[in-house]
Amino acid sequence: MAALVGIATLAVYLVIDRVRGHSRLRHIPGPFWAGWTDIWMLSAQLSGRMCFLLAEANDKYGKVPGPIAKIAPGWVVCGDGDELRRIWGVRSAWQRSYWYRGLRFDPHKDNAFSTLDDQAHERLRSKLMPGYGGKDVDDLHDQIDKQVAGLVSLLETKYLSTDTEFRPVDLARKVQYFTLDVISALAFGKELGYLAADDDLHGYIKTTESTLPIMLATALVPWFLYTIQSPRLKWLIPNVRSIVGIGTVVGVAYDAVAERYGDEPLVKRDMLGSFVRHGLTKEEAEAETVVQIIAGSDTSATAIRSTLLFIITNPRVYRRLQAEIDEGVREGRISSPITDAEARELPYLQAVIREGLRMWPPATAVLPKVSNTDQVVCGVRIPAGTNVAWAPFSFLRSKKTFGDDAIVFRPERWLHVESDPARHRLMDQTVMMEFASGSRWECLGKTVAQIELNKTYVELLRRFDFSLVDPTKPWTSYNAAVFIQSDMNVVVTLRE
Ligand code: HEM
Ligand SMILES: *[C@@H]1O[C@H](CO)[C@@H](O)[C@H](O)[C@H]1NC(C)=O
Repeated sequence: MAALVGIATLAVYLVIDRVRGHSRLRHIPGPFWAGWTDIWMLSAQLSGRMCFLLAEANDKYGKVPGPIAKIAPGWVVCGDGDELRRIWGVRSAWQRSYWYRGLRFDPHKDNAFSTLDDQAHERLRSKLMPGYGGKDVDDLHDQIDKQVAGLVSLLETKYLSTDTEFRPVDLARKVQYFTLDVISALAFGKELGYLAADDDLHGYIKTTESTLPIMLATALVPWFLYTIQSPRLKWLIPNVRSIVGIGTVVGVAYDAVAERYGDEPLVKRDMLGSFVRHGLTKEEAEAETVVQIIAGSDTSATAIRSTLLFIITNPRVYRRLQAEIDEGVREGRISSPITDAEARELPYLQAVIREGLRMWPPATAVLPKVSNTDQVVCGVRIPAGTNVAWAPFSFLRSKKTFGDDAIVFRPERWLHVESDPARHRLMDQTVMMEFASGSRWECLGKTVAQIELNKTYVELLRRFDFSLVDPTKPWTSYNAAVFIQSDMNVVVTLRE
């Protein structure tokens, strides 16, 4: 009897809770089920197409007065660039929502991503910034050059096809080996060695690919997240270090950290050395090395892969970019390898980099912000406590900002607006939102990522030609906050 009463009470409570949740956001349109349950949002996350479904929801339901749609009880998605920039502003009323706690890699320890408290986050960022910005790191550019050379050499020695030999290569993988080696070299002064081994060392990539989708789905279920992060369940939940794959890489990172603390600490001028110098505790440094590897590898790998895919499937762009590079080399404006400063002077390259980022933003997690007071976004009332997610594919393909052909890859659009500085600025600002612009949450790895981009396309395209093995199946791409991409099989040939 008591059990029955209990169940009945719970059922009534759940119904009331749903009805209340529904009525709070009743004035905002969205998919029908999103008004009542999390199922729409969860299945979108698990479908591997979340970023596209959010943009579609904005298109379909968010016409009037602006691109905003309901995606679950207590959740909306906003696709308006101006509004998002306002939300991210320094003194706005918005904070990171509880979702970010799902980005703890150790269920009991915060890192730069999972720190919700604005002030604690700001303090942490100020200690991390000098390292990420490169000022405290010796030979930042040389270190990246060395890894670019490693990528070139891997393709040159093992994957060149000729008239008589066919050696297709999954470029998606090799590019990730490259970004993993870059970030580890900068982070703790020694690359993990993916390019040299030409192998998914320790099964790290395989493991992150299978754990990230689950982790990101968990972040959407607060009660579940709360449970697994509960100190009382510590004995039950595996430690990051014990998960095969991630654990091994985390182990390497933790060992690097261990050397820097203690009685006779190793002092080095790398990012970790900078963190130590700016007062990170050993535990904090451990957490941040994991962040570096996870935040710094998939993202820039996706930028490089997708931009390369757009280049090699657009002959006009491909020819023009290669011509710009060849001319620069001929006229001595491009060293070997190209410097960051030289890359800045190649207008078409810069247009291609921006257009590539625009077409395929690498970091698409929902990144929800909340306010503890009622707010207005896109002209509609957002009740206090509502999660406001972003939809990068909405504002990056906005016709208003980029023109009627916003859905196509056309780097020329960046050159043509140079006569209209205000327009150019808006376009640039909009693309740079991919790094979460503003001073509160901006990507700390932006400089590193941009150096990688400024160099990689040039060093590859000055030497090689690329074509898809099967243009009807260019790659496999699964969206789980970052993109999980593979099977980008290409034929690489040497240019004469
Ligand atoms: C094209 C490549 C990249 C893109 C598009 C990108 C994008 C982003 C975005 C959108 C955020 C903000 C998340 C939020 O709202 O909290 C972020 C944060 C961050 N990114 Fe990146 N990222 C890239 C590359 C990198 C690289 C190479 C590194 C490491 C060297 C890195 C390290 C970080 C860190 C540490 C944060 C956390 C900042 C904080 O919470 O204060 N990212 N990134
Ligand atoms: C890469 O090129 C861009 C030009 O668009 C330039 O603004 C930037 O300073 C270069 N390097 C870095 C690290 O961002």
